[in-house]
Amino acid sequence: MKIIKTADYNEMSKVAANIIAAQITLKPNSVLGLATGSSPIGTYKELISKYENGEIDFSDITTVNLDEYKGMPRTNEQSYYYFMNDNLFNHVNIDKDRTHVPNGMAEDAELECKEYEELVKSVGGVDLQLLGLGRNGHIGFNEPSEEFAKETHCVDLTESTIEANKRFFASAEDVPRQAFSMGIGTIMAAKKIVVVVSGADKAEAVKKAFTGPVTPNVPGSILQFHGDVTVVCDAEAYSELEK
Ligand code: GLP
Repeated sequence: MKIIKTADYNEMSKVAANIIAAQITLKPNSVLGLATGSSPIGTYKELISKYENGEIDFSDITTVNLDEYKGMPRTNEQSYYYFMNDNLFNHVNIDKDRTHVPNGMAEDAELECKEYEELVKSVGGVDLQLLGLGRNGHIGFNEPSEEFAKETHCVDLTESTIEANKRFFASAEDVPRQAFSMGIGTIMAAKKIVVVVSGADKAEAVKKAFTGPVTPNVPGSILQFHGDVTVVCDAEAYSELEK
């Protein structure tokens, strides 16, 4: 595992975007695993600039997103489907038919999870997975638990995550209580993983996940067992590693 300290959110975003751009250049038909949340927004902005400058081409790229709120229509601005279109897909030359986000409105949750897992496999697996890190060490929506979930599954969100994500909603009551998320096994099958982490409120999670014991109580800690992970932190998120 490589942990890079950058000065701030902008530099973190540039470094992460450079790694993703290199992936696209080396393999123009890459399958990118994508994440939502505040952490990757800057990375997506940098990728859009690179596209506009003619540095990268998304025409052969396929994407699979990590997760989606259960019961969230795609037209809702808080859906991860909407987020991805708004923050990346609408601004680059990607074929939307090759972009995939779990369907939060699927009537049969179990079937949706099974089909999404199969979809990830059917596109050939993920070449590069971009991740954020939750304050409680979650990746995707794999919350702290007694065991690592292997495949795409339906998750009950923890109070900590509901609290962290309520800033996007009118109140905590409006935050969905469940989500569909790729499993730890799905994420670990990616060939390459890039994690972006910013802010002092993530410093403890960074220390625990990337230098502490590997445990399902800190889901991101499993990444220590992956052979090709780059964690890109801003100075605040990195700060606990220097103590
Ligand atoms: C969210 C998402 C994760 C994200 C994490 C951190 O709940 N499900 O994929 O990485 O929490 O979010 P943020 O980057 O906004 O801090």
